[in-house]
Amino acid sequence: MTELPTRTLGDGVSVPVLGFGTYPLRGDDGVRAMVSALEVGYRLIDTAVNYRNEREVAEAVRASSLDRGDVFIQTKVPGRDHRSAKHSIETSLHVMDLEYLDSVLIHWPNPSQGGYVRAWEGLVEAKEAGLVRSIGVSNFTPEFLDEIIAATGVTPASNQIEMHPAFPQVEQRAADAERGIATQAWSPIGRGEVLDAAPVVAAAEAHGVTPAQAVLRWHLHLGSLPLPKSGDPERQRHNLEVLGFDLSEAEVDAITALGRPDGRLFGADPVSHEEM
Ligand SMILES: NC(=O)c1ccc[n+]([C@@H]2O[C@H](COP(=O)([O-])OP(=O)(O)OC[C@H]3O[C@@H](n4cnc5c(N)ncnc54)[C@H](OP(=O)(O)O)[C@@H]3O)[C@@H](O)[C@H]2O)c1
Repeated sequence: MTELPTRTLGDGVSVPVLGFGTYPLRGDDGVRAMVSALEVGYRLIDTAVNYRNEREVAEAVRASSLDRGDVFIQTKVPGRDHRSAKHSIETSLHVMDLEYLDSVLIHWPNPSQGGYVRAWEGLVEAKEAGLVRSIGVSNFTPEFLDEIIAATGVTPASNQIEMHPAFPQVEQRAADAERGIATQAWSPIGRGEVLDAAPVVAAAEAHGVTPAQAVLRWHLHLGSLPLPKSGDPERQRHNLEVLGFDLSEAEVDAITALGRPDGRLFGADPVSHEEM
């Protein structure tokens, strides 16, 4: 089984360098897929209120051979709960029958709703109350980050953003790093759509790995924390086996050069895309 190294976030909390995405795993099949992910070695599970699978995540952790403290459980507060974020976290804890969460993120900033600063204040209160060890955001631009930091004096530990070779987020990653924020990558293999690109295939062939493994190694090389999802135990294992090789700087740069301004998977620009 692959043992994943960890990294320490700006708030001192340690996280595995690669995690397991759970959308849209649900029901008994979802629980089975999550138990399998834990058994093959994932130790960070990413869920959200809006994935409607928090109960399955908790059930999978209990059904696995692991202790609660061995698994880093991360969920997200939905847009409709921005003005009651602490209560949203309490509800997640109730649904999951847990005493604490390892990480909670604001799922989307939803700027037209004007609630993300209040939501961040709620996450800060939840952390102070011991409900969550680490707090962060998702889909936050530098402007939104600066606004919540200025309002509270508290910097998010993580920012989970869309990141894959077609949308490598060069500026946003630099902005996160300048503020001491770890970048997490959602849709890290671009839902499979970037795996036949020539630089990805060339890097994979040069190292005797698959295109998905080359892309996940690209993330680790750049210091982003990828959260690949797979419902298939073989692909789950495969997506973890990315530590035994490294890409050259030229290979990394060639994959990054696949980026396009319109490379987002479904056009979800956080300045205009909103999810409640
Ligand atoms: N914060 C946000 O706004 C946000 C938005 C979207 C996603 N997320 C999070 O990010 C996670 C990952 O994103 P994602 O699921 O959109 O995309 P992804 O992880 O890039 O891709 C998942 C897709 O690729 C397939 N796949 C997995 N491993 C593969 C491999 N080795 N070779 C070929 N195909 C493979 C999966 O199919 P199989 O399952 O059949 O293997 C699935 O269809 C989500 O599960 C969720 O936790 C967050």
